[in-house]
Amino acid sequence: MYPFWEGLFIHSTLYVAIVSAFHVLASHITVAAAWFNLYLERRAVKENREELYVYLKRSALGLLVFAYVFGAMAGVGIWQTTTAANPRGISTLIHNFVLYWGSEWYMFLIDVIGIIAYYYTFNRVSKQTHLRLAWILALGGTGTLSIIVGILSFKLTPGLWLETGHSLNGFFNPTFWPQVSMRFAFMLAITAAWALFVVTGLPKGYFERERIIRYAATFGLIGIVAGVLIWLTWYQPSLPMRARAILPSRAIPQPTFPLIYFGLVATFLGLLFAWLMPSKQRRFMALGAMAVLYLAIFGAERTREVLRKPDLIFGYMSSNQLLFNDMAARGIKSEEARLAQTGMLNNLPFVRAPETVTNTKVTFGLDDPEVATGRVIAIQQCGSCHSISHQTAMNIAGVRLDLRSQANLLRMRNLTTADKIDNYIKAIGGFPYMHPFVGTDAERRALARYLEAFLHDTYPETRPAATAQR
Ligand code: HEC
Repeated sequence: MYPFWEGLFIHSTLYVAIVSAFHVLASHITVAAAWFNLYLERRAVKENREELYVYLKRSALGLLVFAYVFGAMAGVGIWQTTTAANPRGISTLIHNFVLYWGSEWYMFLIDVIGIIAYYYTFNRVSKQTHLRLAWILALGGTGTLSIIVGILSFKLTPGLWLETGHSLNGFFNPTFWPQVSMRFAFMLAITAAWALFVVTGLPKGYFERERIIRYAATFGLIGIVAGVLIWLTWYQPSLPMRARAILPSRAIPQPTFPLIYFGLVATFLGLLFAWLMPSKQRRFMALGAMAVLYLAIFGAERTREVLRKPDLIFGYMSSNQLLFNDMAARGIKSEEARLAQTGMLNNLPFVRAPETVTNTKVTFGLDDPEVATGRVIAIQQCGSCHSISHQTAMNIAGVRLDLRSQANLLRMRNLTTADKIDNYIKAIGGFPYMHPFVGTDAERRALARYLEAFLHDTYPETRPAATAQR
């Protein structure tokens, strides 16, 4: 068991989401742009269209600076944020897929050196050789993407791995191919926005401008239609029943779906407009399209992550980093079963001792040892999905922003006393997105006391005294 970081101002999982949505934007641009540029470069060679190289060179420079520098930095950011938010989850992935990640890094190395070589060899090597470099970039990028998707989709559908424990079974899992294909399709739309951005930055009289806009729009429109079809007919049907139950549930916060639909429709219409009127395209439109895409990607990636709630690795490890099933192939025994008997405190090396919690500055009620104990339990059991203290909340213009705040949920359910909360916790396993509470009766009681104190401190009007006075 590892420590768990709640977050600061915003919940730790949101750090992961913000950094990775940017990384997805940048990395998908690079991979699809590599294919788009390859397509253009082949035309340039075959049809002897020198002018296309002007665009290619500009696009390559943009990729080099924006995608490879900032995108790659965000990739490192994903390692940092996921390690802070859920160390044991990332550790499990590393233990299963270290060699896959190793090969992914080799491919990434090819990519990074490839883009530099690609950019600096325009007009310096023969056209055929340069075209080969374009092929290497496209294939290398697709390789890194596919390997990462294998690991990502494993979390949602570990498939046969749960029985055999073999990493290849986990890698080629039931949602691997649908997800690779869907990403590939949507990636074309992201890249279309990128191409519009690059080409609208070229001088006004640039001869190939309108034709490139049309090519890009065509790529993007085909990508969106294909992506939606793949989602409806292949990816969604391959999701496990439990994930399909989560999809319409409250686990996916509003306005996620409107955001995704808006992103899709707006991008589709934008690209259609670009196709119909290539001469009307301006740079700020392309920038707007990228911003819309960032938001849609944020929503879509987050939905993909929430789909496997309450698990981190479906059917194996819960979001709070406990193993809840036996896995015979690896000689692993369920930890939840054991901890429900022995209790959480003193049985998990990294769960902080209550005495140390009392000293923290998180205030309210923590001088009471039972409440302090409850906080330790709350961090471990509920903190991975809920805001459970003021540390992960922000007040902006009088509005409290937090992630599924316990205080808010308890207030809405009118669970204002420790007794009521305690009773309610016994039943949370009934929700599709939560596991049952793990721990002894005394620990659950302590948790209820802490949540009560948190609720009363956040919303003083929920104190019984306040209610009685009215
Ligand atoms: C795997 C993630 C996860 C964990 C861990 C988790 N919850 Fe939840 N919980 C959710 C989600 C998702 C919702 C739905 C949020 C919403 O309604 O906005 C929810 C809703 C709730 C609600 C409101 C339910 C209702 O009636 O609508 C309560 C109360 C609650 N959780 C308590 C807890 C407590 C106490 C713990 C720790 C013992 C806990 N949760 C741990 C994900 C989790």
